[in-house]
Amino acid sequence: PQVIFSGIQPTGVPHIGNYLGALQQWAKLQNEASPKTTLLFSIVDLHAITVNQNPRQLRNACHQMLAALLAVGLDSKRSIIFFQSDVDAHEKLMWILSCRAQMGNLSRMTHKLNLSDNAPPVEALLNTELELGLYSYPVLQAADVLVHRATHVPVGHDQAQHLEFARKCARTFNHRYGTIFQLPETILSPAKRVMSLTQPHLKMSKSHQDPRSRILISDSTEEIAQKVKTALTDSVSGVSYDPVKRPGVSNLIEIMHHFRADGASCKDIARDCENLTMRAFKEQVAKCIDEHLFEIRQRYEELMGKEKEGYLREVAESGAVRARESAAETMHLVRDAVGLGGFQ
Ligand code: TYM
Repeated sequence: PQVIFSGIQPTGVPHIGNYLGALQQWAKLQNEASPKTTLLFSIVDLHAITVNQNPRQLRNACHQMLAALLAVGLDSKRSIIFFQSDVDAHEKLMWILSCRAQMGNLSRMTHKLNLSDNAPPVEALLNTELELGLYSYPVLQAADVLVHRATHVPVGHDQAQHLEFARKCARTFNHRYGTIFQLPETILSPAKRVMSLTQPHLKMSKSHQDPRSRILISDSTEEIAQKVKTALTDSVSGVSYDPVKRPGVSNLIEIMHHFRADGASCKDIARDCENLTMRAFKEQVAKCIDEHLFEIRQRYEELMGKEKEGYLREVAESGAVRARESAAETMHLVRDAVGLGGFQ
């Protein structure tokens, strides 16, 4: 049977990179899945604490992310929506995987460590203040996926190397202890890399300083218009699609392409808008984003209301119960295979 798993960090209200690169795809997979498919979506709060967090802000951001997942169309009856830290098995499996995971492989994970390709060798880094949790981040991510024996993992491009590592952990375990894990397949979303509005050579990210670099799914019509208006483009006249020479304009075209439901390609959009001024083009982009986010934003505001707090709590609690059941089956097999505990 198919098991779809994915995770997102509790960064508060998600931006349209998260939305197009992940959440939209999750909702689509949920709505198209056969009744036999299990779907699990986790808010990964344990991953969030690999960098310093203010406890009150973290809890608030967790709450916002849960509301956002429901607002984009995840259905808590169909999908198992839960906080990672509510399911202890994620940490337990992480330890077991850690015992076989090799430092050499981890040191090649450039993504979370923010390493460039020509970074110093890991030996040099290990003498620094690099924290253990951040270093072993990919092992926890592998445990997330494997503890539910996921078959498919929908993510954006930046997560591909982490999932490659998860498969490596699964192969190593299976080889050593017998086949328990199926190798999880990566499903890359069509919008695999949405770029920053202010620095279009970088991906859109929560961690970039300038809030104008990203549009949040709760942004108002005016905020969207303002952010698109100040997006970095170029001084070439007219609109054309050329991600290498015109990264800013091309990013806006791509965003429009993903938000429009009519299947118009980036080239089609560029042709339709060819003769527009940059200002008129940006107005169209903003309108298109706003129309799509309108209902999501309304649902989000409603779910964040005081009177919905009890409902969100119920969603998290029932998600945790179901996720624990799913993980318990795997942990039973894993403990047995590894020989943990005195008795079966
Ligand atoms: P996170 O929280 O950074 O991002 C959540 C999802 O959003 C995608 N994404 C983007 N896609 C396109 N363009 C962008 N600019 C963009 N920014 C973010 C990410 O690819 C991701 O799919 N380590 C993970 C969370 C995680 C996880 C897991 C994912 C923990 N355990 C197990 C899958 C399976 C992370 O930090 O994602």
